[in-house]
Amino acid sequence: MATYTLGIETSCDETAAAVVRDGKKILSSVVSSSLRYHSRYGGVVPEIAFRKQLETIVQVSDCALKDARLPLQKISALCVTEEPGLLGSLFVGVSFARALALALSRPLVGVNHLYAHIYAGLFGLRDVRFPFMALVVSGGHTSLFYVRDYNRLDLIGETLDDACGEAFDKVAKILGLGYPGGPLIERIAAGGNPKAIEFNCCDTRRPFDFSFSGIKTAVLYRVRALRAGVPLTLKRDIAASFQEAVVRSVAAKSLSACAARKAKLLIVGGGVAANSRLRDFLAQKAEEEGVRAVFAPKELCMDNAAMVAGLGYQLFKKGVIFQP
Ligand code: KG4
Ligand code: ZN
Repeated sequence: MATYTLGIETSCDETAAAVVRDGKKILSSVVSSSLRYHSRYGGVVPEIAFRKQLETIVQVSDCALKDARLPLQKISALCVTEEPGLLGSLFVGVSFARALALALSRPLVGVNHLYAHIYAGLFGLRDVRFPFMALVVSGGHTSLFYVRDYNRLDLIGETLDDACGEAFDKVAKILGLGYPGGPLIERIAAGGNPKAIEFNCCDTRRPFDFSFSGIKTAVLYRVRALRAGVPLTLKRDIAASFQEAVVRSVAAKSLSACAARKAKLLIVGGGVAANSRLRDFLAQKAEEEGVRAVFAPKELCMDNAAMVAGLGYQLFKKGVIFQP
């Protein structure tokens, strides 16, 4: 008999709900973003985020069940992001899922948001063979994991300062492009020359850690030096050169981690994994090194609840649950 899980995701600005069958088939995935309320502040305002989540969570979950054409009683387990994230936002999602679990007498499964981003890359695989390497590049995190099982992951490297997506967001702000910056940088970089300016990501003492604040500051100094403003052609070149340096750094570190751990599979997830230059460059370099790089589908790179329902199903099957 099929097992249906309902996923709830409220770790940052999104309110998301999804229904997944047997951890594999996404029957519905609804994401409501409060982004437009934050954009004039240049970043997510926690107070606004959780108020919007309180307002929308019931409707978003109803919508996910309707899209899946499934009554609530058919749900076997409630899966919810429990960490990491904005405290107030997480609280909204966990309280809601816990209440549903209590009302339905179903188990509640707590899911780690970063592990869920990795799971987004597993939906397309026919069978999952552990261990493998995973890279999560998002607005809040940049982490490399050696994945032994769904709930046994070794963190082998992470950012020492800004997260990768955060660096895109800050550089976009410096260039006056808006928020969130990643897609905007990618768009204008397409018309720029990635070799125009030599930007570099800083070296780190531990080889699999990341650092992006130095390159962001290098962009800032370059823009400040141009007192008369930045012409569009130069903006394009700065965006392309910045993106190229970040992509190369992330790809090199991920693949050297694969080599060090003899991993032949690299899963890539998180918002920045939607970046086409990263996907193309890393896929090509991985192939050259005999590693299979699998990226989360673009629609599952950004925060969503399908990845939470999917990973939640696997944990539920393992008995990793807490009673509400
Ligand atoms: O995973 P996500 O939705 O949220 C977090 O868990 O943080 O990632 C959002 C981040 C933002 O910083 C956004 O600018 C970045 O992902 N991003 C991108 C692209 N699309 C989203 N960065 C680079 N290129 C993109 N195409
Ligand atoms: Zn995320």
